Amino acid sequence: MTAPKPVVLTGDRTTGPLHLGHYVGSLKTRLKLQDEAEQYILLADLQSLTDNIDRHHQVSQNVVEVAMDYLAVGIDPIKSTIFVQSQVPELAELSMLLLNFVTVARLERNPTIKEEIRLRRFERDIPAGFLVYPVSQAADITAFKATIVPVGEDQLPMIEQTNELVRSFNASVKQDVLVECNALLSSVGRLPGLDGKAKMSKSMDNAIRLSAEPDEIRKAVNRMYTDPRHLRVEDSGQVEGNVVFAFLDAFEPDTQRLSELKHRYRRGGLADSTLKQLLNERLQALIEPIRLRRHRLAMDRGDVIAILRGGTARAREKAASTMAAVKRALGLAYVA
Ligand code: TRP
Repeated sequence: MTAPKPVVLTGDRTTGPLHLGHYVGSLKTRLKLQDEAEQYILLADLQSLTDNIDRHHQVSQNVVEVAMDYLAVGIDPIKSTIFVQSQVPELAELSMLLLNFVTVARLERNPTIKEEIRLRRFERDIPAGFLVYPVSQAADITAFKATIVPVGEDQLPMIEQTNELVRSFNASVKQDVLVECNALLSSVGRLPGLDGKAKMSKSMDNAIRLSAEPDEIRKAVNRMYTDPRHLRVEDSGQVEGNVVFAFLDAFEPDTQRLSELKHRYRRGGLADSTLKQLLNERLQALIEPIRLRRHRLAMDRGDVIAILRGGTARAREKAASTMAAVKRALGLAYVA
């Protein structure tokens, strides 16, 4: 008998189209995991609403957009189950029950939540749904009995809180109904934004969309922050903090060639424009097939919606089975 495949749960908020930062940080991992694991990919529209309720149309419109990005990069809906969070009511039901296993003080201590409250300037006006979204995320993970959750560093507090909830719940019902999970940290660092200031993000206008047009890619590469003291070609330049090199680290497969370029840049005699031309070629070659596939998908939105319908049905089945066990354990199965 073969060992059962590990269960992976991963997902994205649906606030806008995906960009190269997502590609490096998570999409590449998912492409690999879909051949090795039972992988569920969540379109986290409900979680997006917790700090975007005033932009709810933007959130709902981007569900299909993000799904098209997944399909365009090669996520295979037969191997991976792509589903929509708001269409799996069991997740909301499980969240409601899990909320009884956490205190408001604990919710307020979550470092990612603290940082987001600061960045969004909520101050005392924190939407209640926002404060409890880590519990909803714990429901996303535990409903599928996921053991592997691929995430970035900022999501580690969510995994810790999920496992605390699992332990409290299981202790309370004296059975191992829910399953603890492990974070799978992506090995590559974050891709910086074009300005070199922060991580790449759409809201900071420093991103390259996964479906960017050739002209957009070229302009973005030209805009990239390099070494401001590297004024003449002969000057020696700095590689650290240089956005073009950070991108080449992620996208130039020939590592030997890359270390030679770094050497020449440091020594002097290598122009920013030469490097940018090389990076532009790499990115054009990477993005072109994604863009073409995405254009084709956009012409058949009905097919994309059918894929989401199928994935959501599959996801609901699994979540419903966990939910039934949770209700049974709590004695909530009066009429079942
Ligand atoms: N919080 C994640 C993000 O901001 C998205 C997400 C929602 C998620 N539910 C999840 C990620 C469950 C992993 C597991 O990107």
